[in-house]
Amino acid sequence: MPTRLFLVLAAAAAALLLLFWRPGAPPASEAPPSSSPGGEAFRQRLVAIGDLHGDIDNAKRVLRMARLTDKTDRWAGGNDIFVQTGDCVDRGTFAREIYELWYRLRSEAHAAGGRVINLLGNHEVMNAIGDWRYVTQADIKHWGGVDNRQHELSTDGWLGKDWLANYSISALVPLSPFPSAPTLSFQHGSLRPSFPNLTPYPDAINRLGHSLLTRALTPPLAKPYPPNPYSGLPAGTTREEAELYDGGGPLWWRGLADVEDDRIVCGWAKELQEKIGVRRVIGGHTPDFDKIVHRCNASVIIIDTGISYAYGGVLSALEIIYTLTPPFAPPANGTDEPHVLRAGEKYIEREEVNAIYPTGKKRIALEVRQIVL
Ligand SMILES: *[C@@H]1O[C@H](CO)[C@@H](O)[C@H](O)[C@H]1NC(C)=O
Ligand SMILES: *[C@@H]1O[C@H](CO)[C@@H](O)[C@H](O)[C@H]1NC(C)=O
Ligand SMILES: *[C@@H]1O[C@H](CO)[C@@H](O)[C@H](O)[C@H]1NC(C)=O
Repeated sequence: MPTRLFLVLAAAAAALLLLFWRPGAPPASEAPPSSSPGGEAFRQRLVAIGDLHGDIDNAKRVLRMARLTDKTDRWAGGNDIFVQTGDCVDRGTFAREIYELWYRLRSEAHAAGGRVINLLGNHEVMNAIGDWRYVTQADIKHWGGVDNRQHELSTDGWLGKDWLANYSISALVPLSPFPSAPTLSFQHGSLRPSFPNLTPYPDAINRLGHSLLTRALTPPLAKPYPPNPYSGLPAGTTREEAELYDGGGPLWWRGLADVEDDRIVCGWAKELQEKIGVRRVIGGHTPDFDKIVHRCNASVIIIDTGISYAYGGVLSALEIIYTLTPPFAPPANGTDEPHVLRAGEKYIEREEVNAIYPTGKKRIALEVRQIVL
């Protein structure tokens, strides 16, 4: 029946129009990372990068590829948010340089209105408690020997201090400062919905991480294993701190990545959305050497692609571009007056999720909806 076909086509065209209609804005792939193309009242870009394992060169490559840094490795991301999900150490040689890079970029980003969010992975905590099974001799040599390495990692050293002040186990990141903002959760491994200290999220997890790390990094540090015997978690570790570090905690658990049954994983994702209100749960830890993995309509995203030369995987970054646009086109009189966001007004919320690879961008998800601010 032609009329029905026509209606279906018209509806599809209208849906497409709604999806792609951004008055005056160039396609996102052409837009510079931090600009506010015409019509958008608010724009936030976020980039997340997974496990780096001592590969400073690939770390810098990925940052440049995602346009967070320029040719000289200075922050070029403007007000972008950059999240690194831990495991910068072990397997490779240049962990120290990677931590130095985060230290510098954190200030540069801050000065430009952006933000660097650093997380601890299981390998950072392993190094803290003296489990040095994956530390290479080249890394120790590069660090000036075991004693210097331990000193810098301790509460007396720059890196120990930096970890305690500027790193956490988990991060809750809203995509705008407004109450309607979708939020993302980041941790190194998978967040388990039945983890005992899930809520209040992420404070309960981060408080335990901080106390465990303080215990581990307060001199004298555990003698490195090997060659010494493994000494386990530091003396005085509480049951809750031990739970944080065990196989079901956010540093080690892989459930959202390695359980094959989508119904189970999507059930967990839904439970997490209900318990902690996050739209997407994002982590590293379980590598896929081809691509960034997304499941359950991208409510679960795994960003470890084995970036380090120790794995020889692919360079990758996750990009999220979040915009709010007034539903009506701005006045066409050529003025560039910024739109003032007003509570109670309607906006088109657009959340574009991309994987960035050396070969280009690949769309993971696009969600467009009308919201009231
Ligand atoms: C935390 O990070 C900022 C920015 O890099 C730095 O200035 C500050 O010294 C760091 N804190 C510690 C204790 O290292
Ligand atoms: C994913 O989105 C589609 C279309 O909106 C919906 O039908 C489906 O139920 C969603 N799946 C999950 C696991 O949320
Ligand atoms: C353009 O339109 C805006 C909003 O209607 C108005 O405030 C502004 O004065 C206009 N500018 C010019 C040059 O006409």
